[in-house]
Amino acid sequence: MIVTVGNTKGGVGKTTLAVNLAIARALAGRDVWLIDGDRQGTAQTAISIRADAGYTPGIACATYPDGPTLRAQVQQQASKFDDIIIDAGGRDSTALRAALVLSDVLLVPFAPRSYDVWALNDIASLVDEARSVRDGLRAVAILNCADPGESSTDNADAAAAVAEIPQFEYLNTPIRRRKAFANAAGQGLSVLELKPTDRKASKELNALISALF
Ligand SMILES: Nc1ncnc2c1ncn2[C@@H]1O[C@H](COP(=O)(O)OP(=O)(O)O)[C@@H](O)[C@H]1O
Ligand SMILES: [Mg+2]
Repeated sequence: MIVTVGNTKGGVGKTTLAVNLAIARALAGRDVWLIDGDRQGTAQTAISIRADAGYTPGIACATYPDGPTLRAQVQQQASKFDDIIIDAGGRDSTALRAALVLSDVLLVPFAPRSYDVWALNDIASLVDEARSVRDGLRAVAILNCADPGESSTDNADAAAAVAEIPQFEYLNTPIRRRKAFANAAGQGLSVLELKPTDRKASKELNALISALF
């Protein structure tokens, strides 16, 4: 399955989630390819740190910030992998547009803040554009950096906001704001591998994966 983690807004957790998803799928025995579609190359850096530290499984990772190259490479190599996870850059880039046309699923992380909710409208038009070229793109929005307090109204508010944007399905598997997510990705690890284990973070990631794949 090809999953793009994308949002035209930066700092919403695209790279954090893409790295976590790729590693988690590899831990589950899948052949995974992580593509960094962002010029900043943060996902690639995380995977290099992982390789230098000798953590297994290793993750195949390539950087293609240019849309036509990304498209050509994925078309050529897709059959070698069970799952391809694309971390698409922060702006409305050619890599993001190319990725959308190739993907089965677009995962859009957003924080429970007004600016992030507004940005969903922006990427909704890119979803329309991709669907006009090719049928079957599933577009899902999930909360990232949600308030760790269980009593927070973030979830309900986010679900209501997404319900107004017909291009998206809201997945009620929020990822909350937890140091474990930031710490793990910075070491080239998924939260599933972090020691000591953050059970809540692991549970959230696993719930997201079950809902996605
Ligand atoms: N669920 C989370 N909990 C805590 N920190 C997070 C979480 N998701 C992302 N972050 C942190 O937020 C910042 C932005 O995340 P990043 O994945 O780089 O976003 P993007 O790729 O969309 O620009 C990073 O410092 C990252 O460690
Ligand atoms: Mg990023």
